[in-house]
Amino acid sequence: MDKQAITALIDAQPANTSLDQAFYADADIYQRDVEEVYLKSWLYAGHLSEIPGVGDWFLFELAGESLIVVRSDDDDVSAVLNVCRHRGSRICLDKTGCSKRLVCRYHGWSYELDGQLHSAAHMPADFDKSAIKLKKIHTEVLEGMIYVNFSEKPASFEPIREGLSRCLRPYRLDKAKVAHRQSYSINANWKLSVENYTECYHCAPSHPEYTRGHSLAKPGARSTVMMDEVMARAGTCGLSEESVNCVYLDEPGFGSGYAFERYPMWRGHLTGSEDGQAVAPLLGDVKNYDGGTTDFQVGPVSFALAYCDYVVIYRFTPLALGRSECDITWLVNGGAEEGKDYDKTRLTWLWDVTTLADKRIIEYNAEGVKSRYYEPGPYSNMEEFTWKFMSWYLQAIRP
Ligand SMILES: [Fe+2]
Repeated sequence: MDKQAITALIDAQPANTSLDQAFYADADIYQRDVEEVYLKSWLYAGHLSEIPGVGDWFLFELAGESLIVVRSDDDDVSAVLNVCRHRGSRICLDKTGCSKRLVCRYHGWSYELDGQLHSAAHMPADFDKSAIKLKKIHTEVLEGMIYVNFSEKPASFEPIREGLSRCLRPYRLDKAKVAHRQSYSINANWKLSVENYTECYHCAPSHPEYTRGHSLAKPGARSTVMMDEVMARAGTCGLSEESVNCVYLDEPGFGSGYAFERYPMWRGHLTGSEDGQAVAPLLGDVKNYDGGTTDFQVGPVSFALAYCDYVVIYRFTPLALGRSECDITWLVNGGAEEGKDYDKTRLTWLWDVTTLADKRIIEYNAEGVKSRYYEPGPYSNMEEFTWKFMSWYLQAIRP
């Protein structure tokens, strides 16, 4: 589809309505999605605790690109493209590793951890190795969480840092550790995955396990007596007394946007778990359970939920036109010991069962959207944020 046709399709999109089939099926639109959304947004890559020592690295892969996220120094993280500057081979092949230098196995070129070429054998006398570096991507660390941005001139991270550090500080995620990480591959265009994440209209029919504990599955959760009770307890529990702090997707400059929103659990539920009871020691400076939970978001496609005892970070990435990945990280108090302080199965139960259900419903959605009889349909009052996301998206990819 050429640029003119894409523009015409965007212009024809009615408000508060799901998108035309082409947005999920057209290869040129998918290309724009990758270029304009994914390669220009701040994306959650991983957590500092996954690369505790100098030389530790992990790969972050999306849409055909591969990044090496490496602890290049005691207090420095680098993200370099996994593309050798010799003839372009992938350098690191495993998902994680620890290396003194990054060595390409094809012709043996080796790089320092910050990407500087260290050695290359049998090169001509005038070869200047100091001029050769692996391409570096912008990185920012927020409370221990590593965000990357492929753009040469990314939107400033400072508004995000200023907006979120204060609210997130009580959880001390910089001192947390990854208890578990899991990827779910979804046979659906990435937008169907994100679209599903942005609304809780489907929670009551599709997620009985989640709906048992979380009031968000019902409309108006944030304007209830329960919410007042949570906010009255927040201060003494050591949690943020701000209940909302957002720069929404429809506000100008959303590239530096973020969201932080608190909402109540049903009374008697302390956290997101099978029985509503705690599954790990309290995080950071949190002193007690206040009966609430927190959603937070960095940029358009990196989401997270913070309970008093653990955090789940959601990362959605496109793998191909009709395939996406949902990667989930469970963070717990850095001092907690598996088997003693928490049981991994209990900790991960809710968001594993919920994500498996999401994978299923998203894939059914993808099947129907491919039908020759599919037509865009109206969003409900509980999909207000989904439309915010979609209207932002349509502007982001507008040629
Ligand atoms: Fe869901």
